[in-house]
Amino acid sequence: MRGYIGKHTALVGALLATTSMASAEDVEVLHWWTSGGEAAALNVLKEDLQTQDIGWQDMPVAGGGGTEAMTVLRARVTSGNPPTAVQMLGFDILDWAEQDALANLNDVAAEEGWDAVVPDALKAFSMHDGNWIAAPVNVHSTNWVWANKSILDDLGIAQPTTWDEFVAALEAVKASGKTALAHGGQAWQDATILDGVILSTGGVDFYKKALIDLDAEALGSDTMKEAFDRMAVLRSYVDDNFSGRDWNLASAMVINDEAAFQIMGDWAKGEFLNAGKVPGEDFLCFRVPGSEDAVSFNSDQFAMFGVSGDEAVQAQNAMAAAIMSPEFQSAFNVVKGSVPARTDVPNDDFDDCGKKGMAELSAANDAGTLVGSMAHGHANRAAVKNAIYDVVTAHFNGEYDSETAVQELVTAVEINK
Ligand code: GAL
Repeated sequence: MRGYIGKHTALVGALLATTSMASAEDVEVLHWWTSGGEAAALNVLKEDLQTQDIGWQDMPVAGGGGTEAMTVLRARVTSGNPPTAVQMLGFDILDWAEQDALANLNDVAAEEGWDAVVPDALKAFSMHDGNWIAAPVNVHSTNWVWANKSILDDLGIAQPTTWDEFVAALEAVKASGKTALAHGGQAWQDATILDGVILSTGGVDFYKKALIDLDAEALGSDTMKEAFDRMAVLRSYVDDNFSGRDWNLASAMVINDEAAFQIMGDWAKGEFLNAGKVPGEDFLCFRVPGSEDAVSFNSDQFAMFGVSGDEAVQAQNAMAAAIMSPEFQSAFNVVKGSVPARTDVPNDDFDDCGKKGMAELSAANDAGTLVGSMAHGHANRAAVKNAIYDVVTAHFNGEYDSETAVQELVTAVEINK
């Protein structure tokens, strides 16, 4: 190598110059997309940026829902070395904006006309004080059930349309010796189930009162107790090894014919697709029975942290513009399981679950039944979310009965709101 440099100093000098220029145009991306389906979607993003000569430095932090990623982010910012671009959810974005840590994306937003195509429900988190602070890459929703079609067919179980039918279906699967409900005992997964269960038990208005307005009466109500009772029912249908299991391994149980159902956000579909499974043929997607009129959403957005140097800022803006292009939004979300974050993307390339998701998002938006997911940081600040997580998990693991869980919930929310 040294000899090579000796002979080709000029060339190497030029190469080094190019390299350092390229590294100035790199984006370091902190994210938690580490499962098979998530990584496949992330590749769509990496490849898209590559075609635009934006280099990618990967900073993955495993852990569904992003709790661990947010801890790493805090440490990086505290040590004065923030990543340039960060996958982030809902109120976390607003928290960082309030701390003046985020770059202003107004120029790129204006150039690309974001204002006209991003729905208000997302703008509530992409904008702060009238400024664009994040680029939304998708819209996920949490009140979904993923079902193994052949298990249901073999047992003569029809797709459940009410809560009682769902419980009867779980019971029939359990009686057959298969696992009825694939689940991973992690706080964020327990909370993800609760999003759908609360919608199904109390309806959209109750969900809003309890989880968004944090109304003490709703939180302490009989309806909330019933929601916890339903959580206990679900608990009785998970297998013995559920504790600590990652969500994608729970999806794999449904994919591999070991379990019939999983209640999980539509990132689960990314796992089914990554395993070559086809919606309608191998698996079914439907809303948590009783929550069909509602959509509890979360949107992954990329927030850009303050960086210095024109080239670095240009790379951030180029990444933001790339994320928001309609072609990219289609290509990425087809793989990820989510739906586009802009309203003008055609649904042609989406499978039946994706088309259903897009239609339901738009209908819920029009009907006022689109609500932020509590479990994924779109209903309240992290302190409240984490307080709810603790109660839900303690109850799911049998530490609290439903009555106690309700009381603990009221207290925990009151202290942390
Ligand atoms: C969510 C995120 C999804 C998916 C999921 C599991 O919070 O919005 O994109 O990654 O966590 O990791």
